[in-house]
Amino acid sequence: MRFDILTLFPDMMEAVLGDSIIGRAKKNGLIEINCIQIRDFTHDKHRQVDDYPYGGGRGMVMQPQPIYEAYQSICDKLDYKPYTIYLSPQGKTFRQSTAKRLAKKEHIVLLCGHYEGVDQRILDEIVDAEISIGDYVLTGGEIACMAVVDAVSRLVPGVLKDEESFSEESHYSGLLEYPQYTRPEEWHGKKVPDVLLSGHHKNICEWKRKMSIKTTFEKRRGMLSKIKLSEKEKNFVEELKREQNCKGKK
Ligand code: ADE
Repeated sequence: MRFDILTLFPDMMEAVLGDSIIGRAKKNGLIEINCIQIRDFTHDKHRQVDDYPYGGGRGMVMQPQPIYEAYQSICDKLDYKPYTIYLSPQGKTFRQSTAKRLAKKEHIVLLCGHYEGVDQRILDEIVDAEISIGDYVLTGGEIACMAVVDAVSRLVPGVLKDEESFSEESHYSGLLEYPQYTRPEEWHGKKVPDVLLSGHHKNICEWKRKMSIKTTFEKRRGMLSKIKLSEKEKNFVEELKREQNCKGKK
């Protein structure tokens, strides 16, 4: 899978995306990440990429031409239009389901905006989707872009050592993950649940599913209405509600 990132801060992106699991995936040839400096596509001696907004208003706006030429430097070598994302607080909120959908694409271009915005005409011309990582405003699209590239890359087959590790984790199945434990068996007087030490595979699976439901109930109850639960599981949720009501009354 290939990512091309249009940015004014390629060094910052490369430093983060060159390390850890994503860095290893790059070295193994599973993903390719190219960071393209938009400023390299200016034609004036100050390498200016922004200008004052027409009609007045705050700050500076990124000009369309350097972004267009940076984008064309990618497209010139292709016989298709790569799926192009603009990171912006106005975009659709990025979710695990978005990451799953994007992981099926072979090539994604990401545009990181800066200053007070980007000239609308370049967005209209090249962008297929506008993505936000949450309802808050960052100083630029770079941090959002890194979050998207990280979340998508780890879903590419082979990037994680054990592919099962994401099929069980939070958000993947619509539930949050069950609690995890490692050695020692007892720490600060707290013991690991017996079932996890039992070696009984079926009971362990049941416990994990039940604890996922409980964790989701406690932390993100709204998610439970979106997934299919068995009758037994629905009863378990009712039990959790009763328990919570009792606690509330005490
Ligand atoms: N750029 C600035 N804020 C952003 C956000 N919340 N998500 C994506 N891109 C952004």
